[in-house]
Amino acid sequence: MQQTPFIFFCRPGFESDCAAEVQAIANAHELAGYANAQTDAGYVRFYLFDDASSEAFFDLLDLSDIIFARQWFWAKAELEELPLEDRITPILDVCADVAMAKSLLVEHLDSDEGRELSKFCKKFSTPLTIALEKQGLVHDDSEFRLHTLFLATDHCVLGYSPAERSSELKGGILRLKAPKNAPSRSSLKLDEAIQVLMSNRQQRDAFRLGNTGVDLGAAPGGWTFQLVERGLQVSAIDNGPMDKKLMATEHVEHYQENAFTWLPEKPVNVLVCDMVEKPSLVANLMAEWLEGGHTQHAIFNLKLPMKKRFQEVADCIGLVCDRLEDAEKSYFWQAKHLYHDREEITVYFRLKSKVAQNHS
Ligand SMILES: C[S@@+](CC[C@H](N)C(=O)[O-])C[C@H]1O[C@@H](n2cnc3c(N)ncnc32)[C@H](O)[C@@H]1O
Repeated sequence: MQQTPFIFFCRPGFESDCAAEVQAIANAHELAGYANAQTDAGYVRFYLFDDASSEAFFDLLDLSDIIFARQWFWAKAELEELPLEDRITPILDVCADVAMAKSLLVEHLDSDEGRELSKFCKKFSTPLTIALEKQGLVHDDSEFRLHTLFLATDHCVLGYSPAERSSELKGGILRLKAPKNAPSRSSLKLDEAIQVLMSNRQQRDAFRLGNTGVDLGAAPGGWTFQLVERGLQVSAIDNGPMDKKLMATEHVEHYQENAFTWLPEKPVNVLVCDMVEKPSLVANLMAEWLEGGHTQHAIFNLKLPMKKRFQEVADCIGLVCDRLEDAEKSYFWQAKHLYHDREEITVYFRLKSKVAQNHS
């Protein structure tokens, strides 16, 4: 019998990268499977070959380990030609066989067709939740999240994920409003990166009032703005001009120098880098800062104009990890193709102090 697929949401155009990554995870655990992905669909289906492999895959998957996926779940049923006058009954019939859920997400994809379903999904969420509750299918103690992914108003893929290892956000998208005074829209990328990649503990540690930060390739200052908003005193490195209002806060020192050679006199708490450069050059630069103990936290973009993006990302992150291991540094990292990222991903590295090693 064919296994029901695992569904991975991604940015349209990145299906092959997401598929390659999921395949690599399956391979690493010696689970045989294959991906089915259409360009620009905004999602990937991944099939394992038997029940035991599917169960094992479900048990090991964690969204925070997957760079190119924003959300995932294990599909249990695909309902096509849902009666438009009553979509709820057939969905409830399937749910009764699946599992009790802690919560429900009515989702759509981030593709052109998917976004057209956004209003419908929003409207459908409340009546479906109420119907599930009435049937006793929602329970706080459940560890599962129920997903109904609509591909059309009469076509839904239904399944579940472990609530702790998937996103509580619809489609895994953190929607943020651009702050009024931000010098650039790319400010949102760093805001999202901080919220998605850093735990609350890591954020508290990095953004104590009076802590210091460096922004490599800072102009006009969208990322610096986010650091200043979080209480940091920032050194901004860029030959280009910085936003005047941001400079007037007196929380920024602007150095018109080469970001590949500039180093701070004293170690800083946070380093950020958004330079449009070859990913391997950026990765080496980040490794240099972390290895040398010039910063404890580093958040950086890897720009990915090439074809085999997953391979490039794996090589670059591997390079930083290898260098830190050679230097006997203990570290934590996480990376994501964020909602506000385009042809790039965002990476977070943190050096662990000996005391903190067991806590992050
Ligand atoms: C994408 S922009 C940064 C945008 C910024 N994060 C923001 O939110 O406003 C990249 C910047 O990197 C700077 N840059 C590129 N190479 C550099 C180098 N070697 N040294 C200093 N700045 C550099 C460019 O001048 C450019 O302003």
